[in-house]
Amino acid sequence: MNVKNICCLGAGYVGGPTMAVIAQQCPHINVTVVDVNATRIAAWNDADLDKLPVFEPGLDNVVGEARGRNLFFSTDVDQAIDEADMIFISVNTPTKTYGKGKGMAADLKYIELCARQIASVSKTNKIVVEKSTLPVRTASAIKNILDHTGNGVEFQILSNPEFLAEGTAVDDLLAPDRVLIGGDTSDKGQEAIQALVDVYAHWVPKERILTTNVWSSELSKLTANAFLAQRVSSINSMSALCEKTGADVNEVAKAIGLDSRIGSKFLKSSVGFGGSCFQKDILNLVYIAKTYGLNEVADYWEQVIIMNDYQKNRFSNNIVSTLYNTVSGKKITFLGWAFKKDTNDTRESAAIQVADNLLNEQAHIAVYDPKVTEERIYADLDYLNTRAEEENRSLLNVKNDPYEACKDSHAIAVLTEWDEFKTYDWQAIYDNMLKPAFVFDGRGILDIKSLENIGFVCYSIGKGFNK
Ligand code: NAD
Ligand code: UGA
Repeated sequence: MNVKNICCLGAGYVGGPTMAVIAQQCPHINVTVVDVNATRIAAWNDADLDKLPVFEPGLDNVVGEARGRNLFFSTDVDQAIDEADMIFISVNTPTKTYGKGKGMAADLKYIELCARQIASVSKTNKIVVEKSTLPVRTASAIKNILDHTGNGVEFQILSNPEFLAEGTAVDDLLAPDRVLIGGDTSDKGQEAIQALVDVYAHWVPKERILTTNVWSSELSKLTANAFLAQRVSSINSMSALCEKTGADVNEVAKAIGLDSRIGSKFLKSSVGFGGSCFQKDILNLVYIAKTYGLNEVADYWEQVIIMNDYQKNRFSNNIVSTLYNTVSGKKITFLGWAFKKDTNDTRESAAIQVADNLLNEQAHIAVYDPKVTEERIYADLDYLNTRAEEENRSLLNVKNDPYEACKDSHAIAVLTEWDEFKTYDWQAIYDNMLKPAFVFDGRGILDIKSLENIGFVCYSIGKGFNK
């Protein structure tokens, strides 16, 4: 089967970039990305490519090339479903905040709404592709809804989880380590798999396109994120031990990473992992394990989250104890708010928890992040519901200029590893700070030696203070 029209439900961090790359690489396929959020769609259609709702290096070029040619962004969900022969579901699957599985299970209400809408609108056979990250066995629920509420048309369900990382999304999509496609073992299932393989084969080498059964594909996505997050928690647990023993976490990471069985990637100690998925997907995995009575499995993976929370709290506790056990009324400057560099995404960013802890200690915080808006920062804090919104606005200020943000502060905390932080005039920053001037590098990116030469007192994650 030759796919001619693709539609994607959900124009977020995954739907937008993923579909833009498919459209760019397959000019003969019409790709329409739809969303219920009209503001988001308007931003995807903005003539000014700097105003796309998702910041990703290189994404403006990809969108600029394909948009209007064979890439369209629209709020007309019904029309896009009707015209498509392949429909990707890329909507959000957050952790449930109510009812059974609250705080752990994935909330599949948006997925179910999509399935019902696809069923009610479709007049021709469709291939439905799960692009969102879903609990294992979700495909059978989607199939059930489609078959029972549809108009007699045939649906094939594929699982095609996305492995892109934010900040490198375009590169990851253009040259993926692998593309995973899970489908039914029946002939029709295999035909559907082949149709999707053919789409990716336009730019991905065939040996990198892996086909499996649906359940393996669904579970592989959760497993990949669990393993990645586990590595970060593992190295972060060692960062605490390094600080007590005089070992340097970067040296330890290098020493173990050179063992080809361990590998060097994902061993950068930090103030804690963030992002929309690691925590959500591990909690989901824990929940699934528990529902099958696999309590030891559940406990094992939950520890990855516990360690991450510990790391964030350890960082803020260290700031308080270093600043003579009180930060009340003291100005602390945050460099970075995004959960990692090269993205404007702040979901589950460690900065949020660290800020909340310090605000509980009555600190005054100034934040500078090159890509995150003031509105987003306040929304992140308000969402925690720890204190009144007015109090968040009076205790925390967002600055557009890093030097202004650092002026008159007692301490600087690096929460995101933005490259530009390394290039600042740190002497000028030092001159305008209260003394002793502290730097807490939660990402281990600054040249501590030269900062110390200027006069800063420096803490670096996994190294501690220079003894
Ligand atoms: P997102 O919140 O950025 O985007 C989801 C979009 O879906 C929103 O714009 C929302 O308005 C829209 N939506 C919700 N219901 C809809 C409906 N019924 N019809 C049309 N649009 C609807 O989320 P995201 O970060 O793009 O993640 C989407 C999925 O992809 C999640 O399951 C996530 O776990 C997974 N994933 C995310 C990443 C990542 O880096 N963000 C990477 C891999 C996988
Ligand atoms: C992660 C996975 O890397 C993607 O493969 C996956 O598709 C995605 O989740 C998802 O399912 O959403 P992402 O969260 O965008 O991607 O970014 P990562 O590069 O994985 O970073 C996650 C967090 O871990 C960040 O806060 C980052 O700073 C932190 N991290 C990462 C470290 O602290 N140390 C490291 O060595 C690596």
